[in-house]
Amino acid sequence: MNIQIINGPNLNLLGVREPSVYGDTTFEAYLEQLRTRYANITINYYQSNVEGEIINKLHEVGFSYDGVLLNAGAYTHTSVAIADAIAAINTPVIEVHISNVYKREEFRHHSHLSKNCKGIIVGFGMDGYRLGIESLLDK
Ligand code: DQA
Repeated sequence: MNIQIINGPNLNLLGVREPSVYGDTTFEAYLEQLRTRYANITINYYQSNVEGEIINKLHEVGFSYDGVLLNAGAYTHTSVAIADAIAAINTPVIEVHISNVYKREEFRHHSHLSKNCKGIIVGFGMDGYRLGIESLLDK
């Protein structure tokens, strides 16, 4: 099984960025735990702060991989182009948010992406990525 995790803008700063909201673990440390736990799954990781690069990655993996876990960061709330890319590919995409966006500012309550995703995991901290993997295993 081949899974792609894609993290969008500012998520390279996990562990440093607003730790009261996003926790104090770096994504790299968390990823190491995930890869140990799911040793039989290939977990690929990509992070970009650039909208078009996220779209390119979705196109690249979206016709052959078994699943994508996408945390598009703030592009979730703004990007019709990423929503279109999710609709264009065959691989199921699961939208992940570390924080509970519904407890936060109103502008975070709307996602352009959700309607094109298989499901959404919101507010479980970093553990949301593991829950996403579990949901793909269940298919
Ligand atoms: C986020 C929530 C977004 O609103 C925010 O812009 C992020 C991170 C989350 O994981 O909780 O960058 O996607």
